[in-house]
Amino acid sequence: MKYEIRCSACKSVSKNLLDFRCSSCGKPLDVRLHLDFEKTDVRRDDYSVWRYRRLFPYVEEENVISLGEGWTPLVQFSNCVRLKLENLNPTGSFKDRGSAVLVSALHRLVNEKKGYISEDSSGNAGASIAAYAARAGLKAKIYVPESVSGPKFNQIQSYGAEIVKVAGSRSRVAEEAQKRETGKIYVGHILHPLFRDGIRSLAYEIAEQCKWEVPDHVFLPVSAGTLLLGVISGFKHLVNSNAIRAMPTVVACQTAQVSPLYHLFKNLDYTPPESVTSIADALVSVNPPILELMHEQLKSARGDAVMVEEDETKEAYKDLARKGFFVEPSSAVAYAGYKKQVRNGEVSSDASVVLILTGAGLKTTLKP
Ligand SMILES: Cc1ncc(COP(=O)(O)O)c(C=O)c1O
Ligand SMILES: [Zn+2]
Repeated sequence: MKYEIRCSACKSVSKNLLDFRCSSCGKPLDVRLHLDFEKTDVRRDDYSVWRYRRLFPYVEEENVISLGEGWTPLVQFSNCVRLKLENLNPTGSFKDRGSAVLVSALHRLVNEKKGYISEDSSGNAGASIAAYAARAGLKAKIYVPESVSGPKFNQIQSYGAEIVKVAGSRSRVAEEAQKRETGKIYVGHILHPLFRDGIRSLAYEIAEQCKWEVPDHVFLPVSAGTLLLGVISGFKHLVNSNAIRAMPTVVACQTAQVSPLYHLFKNLDYTPPESVTSIADALVSVNPPILELMHEQLKSARGDAVMVEEDETKEAYKDLARKGFFVEPSSAVAYAGYKKQVRNGEVSSDASVVLILTGAGLKTTLKP
């Protein structure tokens, strides 16, 4: 047996790849790999996520749907900081790793049922799922908050997906996407274990691009938690397979408005705002459904969390752009988090660091 999909709480096994939560207790599902990471298995002639194909055993080779996602550049930013340019993925964000793996694993099953896929998103995941659905010849219905940015809305529509704007909180958007309709198959990226699992590839790439000498710290923005969980799971897999010596310290970066994980991790009370007005408009999960899992994994990985103020995000966003890296304000939160931890003495200024730049600057409507 190469893998199992199990409930993160009651450990029941799920045999149906379309399941997005445990059918016994409703908690999130997790992929458990029973394969070691062997460096010799890396397909060195494939410059995409699929160079690690063997480690995604639930995707049949002939079912791979690819737009060339992954193998994004890791570039030197300063003496000890490197940037992982996830903004250069096919739809402009890291989400393409999750969508490619999810859609590759499921498109046959969805077609057999003559169904269509449904997804809820603040924008980037919706655009990404819409693109991969288009590539696979599937219909997609994407539910977004009313506040979705114009460029993301246009991108989703351009891929030919049906788009539904939902008023109210981010949780309301998820509820609408999950409402039963004939033919609808919900593959919501936050809950579906295969989307999160696809993001493991990001840790493999960082390790490989660092010649298996991983940095001391990896900073990444966190909202619903799929990026965080995927990256932790990839690094843990590498450590357990003896492919790297130790886990980097993964630092979850959140905005003051949307920081449930930071508060839980630091044992502080969190009161979500009435509405999210931050320029980091992709980070909107004030009540993420997999918060417990994020907390448990961040603790067991000996990671850390940092919260940044709005002016720190703005400054980091401008600073990156002025140095040639035009990314979404939500991505700049990782840089703001790094700068804050250096300022506070929590990270040494000569520690080796990778910042994950998650999304493209062209997706924002922010004026310079
Ligand atoms: C650009 C960008 N960065 C970071 C995130 C956070 O990822 P996650 O929701 O997996 O925590 C998102 C999610 O929408 C995003 O679009
Ligand atoms: Zn369960």
